[in-house]
Amino acid sequence: MASQPRQIFMLTGAGISAESGLGTFRDRGGIWARFDPMKLATPEAFAEDPDTVLDFYNHRRRGVVAAAPNGAHRAIAEAQSRLAARGGRLFLCTQNVDDLHERAGAQDVVHMHGELLKARCTACRAVSTWHGDLVAEDPCPACAAPAMRPDVVWFGEMPKHLERIEAMLSASDLFVAVGTSGAVYPAAGYVRQARARGIPTCALNLEPTDNAGAFDAARYGPASETVPAFLAEICG
Ligand code: OAD
Repeated sequence: MASQPRQIFMLTGAGISAESGLGTFRDRGGIWARFDPMKLATPEAFAEDPDTVLDFYNHRRRGVVAAAPNGAHRAIAEAQSRLAARGGRLFLCTQNVDDLHERAGAQDVVHMHGELLKARCTACRAVSTWHGDLVAEDPCPACAAPAMRPDVVWFGEMPKHLERIEAMLSASDLFVAVGTSGAVYPAAGYVRQARARGIPTCALNLEPTDNAGAFDAARYGPASETVPAFLAEICG
């Protein structure tokens, strides 16, 4: 583990927002244990039954609006400022569609699976901020077409910002994954890409994941405890 890393690449997943009351996907009782992702999170499902898909995301969006960042989100934002003040960087790449990193004060958060508080027009592609419910009849604020969808990445679609993410991964000197099961690619492959480049890797998770063996080091426990402790240790 680099003792004084200057360029941290941090990947976060649903586990970091679990203590804020937002559900994870693959834990017992998780979102994909209760709902079928093929009926709710694919372009085909949306084409077949837009109301059901929009209802699912409306419910989740209400949850995000009502949630608040926890100590893990705050510790990351603080570490980002501290590192930036000494010429370093904490690049924050999240699989989460919530805005809790931003509300904790994090800068330049890269949402590879999109953002629930944004909607995209399938006619003109304009992206609009969207905090309320979304229904099929809602007109696009830019072109007025009733063609809005949540600006999230569905199964079968390409995650966002991949070129920038891979460039930042190559330029980092420490890779840290927080609260992610490592089940969904390409994010799940970043730990191996980092190791192939000789970059030290660490997992911060509630419990060992199926890909735990891919990491050089791991700390287990709730993110609100492990993340502040780990960041205090490695970047003061
Ligand atoms: P998962 O639900 O697959 O994994 C969440 C991980 O967080 C698990 O390993 C949990 O053990 C861990 N965890 C739970 N509570 C925690 C806590 N308090 N502190 C630390 N860790 C905790 O979620 P993701 O890996 O984020 O994609 O899922 C990846 C993608 O799969 C999501 O972005 C979503 C989903 O399908 C799309 O919808 C495209």
